[in-house]
Amino acid sequence: MRTTSSFIRIICFAILCAILLMFIISPEKPLEAIYDVPYWLTLSIAIFFMMAIEVCVAALQRILYLSLDSESRDKYDKQQAKEKENQFKWLKTTYKKLLGGKPIEEEHEIILDHNYDGIKELDNKLPPWWLYGFYITIIFAVIYLARFHVFGGYTQSEEYETELEIAKAEIEAWKKTAKDLVDVNTVTVLTDPKDLNAGKSIFNERCVACHKADGGGGIGPNLTDQYWILGGGIKNVFNTISEGGRSGKGMVPWKTELKPSEMAQVASYILSLQGTTPAEPKAAEGEIWVDPDAPVNEISTDSTDINLQQVEPTHLDGTPTDNQN
Ligand code: HEC
Repeated sequence: MRTTSSFIRIICFAILCAILLMFIISPEKPLEAIYDVPYWLTLSIAIFFMMAIEVCVAALQRILYLSLDSESRDKYDKQQAKEKENQFKWLKTTYKKLLGGKPIEEEHEIILDHNYDGIKELDNKLPPWWLYGFYITIIFAVIYLARFHVFGGYTQSEEYETELEIAKAEIEAWKKTAKDLVDVNTVTVLTDPKDLNAGKSIFNERCVACHKADGGGGIGPNLTDQYWILGGGIKNVFNTISEGGRSGKGMVPWKTELKPSEMAQVASYILSLQGTTPAEPKAAEGEIWVDPDAPVNEISTDSTDINLQQVEPTHLDGTPTDNQN
């Protein structure tokens, strides 16, 4: 067990296991497995087993060795010694070659013929690892020069700009998935049927007791007309749900029970009830809500605009006109 090769075996096994497990635990994003506790647990168990196997094999070898007679033991020892000598021979020779130094016995070949108070100088060659590294930088420089300065590659500031663009796009994409970041300032009307359905089930679960299933109103006000006590539009409705109504009226703040995304869903669902006709509508309370941000031109042409649906144009004498425009 205490030999170098068994250590190397264990390390290789650990690396292989680590990579394999990543792909097994999260095939889509392997690197994210490192945040998983089960990942590290499985890995440690696997490494532990590998160590146990190594220990067992070593112990077995030891027992076999002890059971040998002295002659075969000698033979075995010799063979082991030879193997040990040859171990990593290739690595050792390459390492020496890369350093390129002369052995001390041959130094007389490269000694220079000056001598300062006994200090002599050797004319060693440059170590090959350094020299080849230097050549590589020269080749790199030539390629770099041609690529970026002769054939007009991108500049560093352009590279910076594109990376910034990519990062901004990534932040946008992330914000879309991180729905709970919405607050009263950023909330928008959700139109995805999935969100509206989620809003509907929240409404049916928690709000119908006071607002009725069709939003017609009971203890709470009618939510289907365009009269609002606390202000209409997605931002006000979101705010009412989050912070509650006027004190003592019965509408509690829901922010402790609902996530921001859920409040946005239920708020959007409530707004989708606008203009529907509930079975027993409660009389209008509050005031007609006019969206201050609505573009003025569109108000008169857009017949679906919720602010206008019940404001019927009248003649001067008060009778309704046929003209819906
Ligand atoms: C205990 C009864 C009760 C429950 C439950 C309740 N509400 Fe209300 N709600 C009210 C009352 C009462 C008001 C009026 C508050 C006021 O006058 O200040 C109100 C007002 C509102 C308003 C503002 C209406 C306007 O005219 O401005 C909205 C929006 C609203 N509720 C949504 C909800 C949602 C969404 C839920 C469920 C998560 C819910 N309510 C649950 C009683 C309730």
